[in-house]
Amino acid sequence: MLILGVQTFLIFFLTFMLTMSVVQWWRGRQMLKKYPGYKLPPGPRGFPLVGSIFSLGRNPHLTFMEMAKKYGDVFTINLAGQNVLVVNGFEAVREALVKQSTIFAGRPHLALTQELTEGQGIVSADYGSIWREQRRFTLQTLRNFGFGKQSFEGNIQEEIVHMLDAFGETTCKPFNANHIMETSVSNVVCSINFGQRFQYDDPCFRKLVQSIYRFSEIGTNASAVNYFPILRRLPFPELKEVYEIEKTMKDFMYGMIENHKNTKKPGINRDLIDGYLHEIDRRKQEGLNDEASRSFNEVYLYHTLSDLLFAGTETMSSTLRWGILYMIKFPHIQAKVQEELDSVVLGDELPSWRQRNKLPYTEATLMEVQRMANITAIGFPHKTTEDTQLFDYFVPKDTSVFINLYSVHVDPTQWSKPDEFNPERFLTEEKKVYNHPALMPFSAGKRACPGENLAKMQLFLFFSAILKKFRLTTTPSNPNPSLEKHYAISLCPSPFEVCAYPR
Ligand code: HEM
Repeated sequence: MLILGVQTFLIFFLTFMLTMSVVQWWRGRQMLKKYPGYKLPPGPRGFPLVGSIFSLGRNPHLTFMEMAKKYGDVFTINLAGQNVLVVNGFEAVREALVKQSTIFAGRPHLALTQELTEGQGIVSADYGSIWREQRRFTLQTLRNFGFGKQSFEGNIQEEIVHMLDAFGETTCKPFNANHIMETSVSNVVCSINFGQRFQYDDPCFRKLVQSIYRFSEIGTNASAVNYFPILRRLPFPELKEVYEIEKTMKDFMYGMIENHKNTKKPGINRDLIDGYLHEIDRRKQEGLNDEASRSFNEVYLYHTLSDLLFAGTETMSSTLRWGILYMIKFPHIQAKVQEELDSVVLGDELPSWRQRNKLPYTEATLMEVQRMANITAIGFPHKTTEDTQLFDYFVPKDTSVFINLYSVHVDPTQWSKPDEFNPERFLTEEKKVYNHPALMPFSAGKRACPGENLAKMQLFLFFSAILKKFRLTTTPSNPNPSLEKHYAISLCPSPFEVCAYPR
């Protein structure tokens, strides 16, 4: 019985994969007939059925750069029967994301992502009126709370004080900063979403934060289901864990939504949940019944809240941990940042957002951290929303696209000695900050990160406060920590410890 089951499964699986490969090949040929003169992007043939999926290795962004040496900056790989366009290097990425912004703004339909998000929220929703309206509304509501503006600074500073206390409690002994960074940056998003911060030892909050970070660890492996949906039918421990994380998120968020429904007052917006619930009421009262208005409901709200938490915490904490690592690896650069901070930020003050104009070296150092760390090396996959041409190649509508942001940040046509950590590259001769067009950690175009302003403010305030208050060093047991990247959902530093001496 079991053997029959496995046989049936294998026959079904192989037939499915073979059919997908033939359909993809046939579609490409048909398209070219429609657009004579264009070519399809080149690329490795890969293995029968699975394509190149097992050739990507632990660091797909590096594998893609190797492939680009052979096939050029624009090429196609086959992932288990799906053709995926890979775009590398500054010129090609800018052409796709900026010059053809709408055409490259779709999100592909991926089995696991679709199951978890129901195609809702901001990150995974496909390009269209619902995504546009939901993203616009969320951003507008967040802006009203001062998101990324001077008036939000107080919320961030409040969290920074707790974070600095936690650094101080380590009493100069080696510690791993992961937990402190994760908890404090999650709390900033919580203050936007739920109008409150949590104590670092609050058990519900700890469970939430642990879930977010566990997801970032196992999410990449579980996402194999996106290309082999059939894996859902097999006992796959990481997938089971993903469902448990989803349950934790749902319990927490729906609890918060319920609580807000019971306590909200007309005309008063304490946070994003209040703003959204009022918007649902408004659209109902006004009898708006278009597709976008119907999408305003509590399920969509849940997905938006969890998108902000997932997208806005791991990215921030990972970047700050890279910042700490680079500062202990390059103590002379740390000393230069501290010298600049001491000359502008007086006494016991914490650095403020307004002071950043007088702190160009500090800002340039953070930019270099973002360029070198490359935490969102490939980012979320895109999809073409119509047939198009990228350089010499024809790209059909609905093609999945990987944008290799990593390759942009090490592109030798844009950066001299790209492997060197050198904040000076972001300073002009007059020692002003230079916004290099090829620095795009937040991506670009229609799908560019909506949290960019908040993230920049938060990174600057956290990073400068840590360095103003502490001298950071390596530990006696590991005087030379590795800069090797650990490939999870984002590229984070391999675990390391640091000592923080009060200044
Ligand atoms: C260092 C911090 C951050 C980095 C490096 C970063 C980077 C990115 C990148 C590369 C994307 C993908 C863009 C694309 O698909 O081309 C993205 C999307 C997104 N980010 Fe961020 N992000 C950061 C912080 C934040 C914060 C603080 C929030 C909100 C609280 C946020 C919310 C989002 C959302 C909602 C999306 C999806 C946008 C869409 O699909 O329309 N991010 N981010």
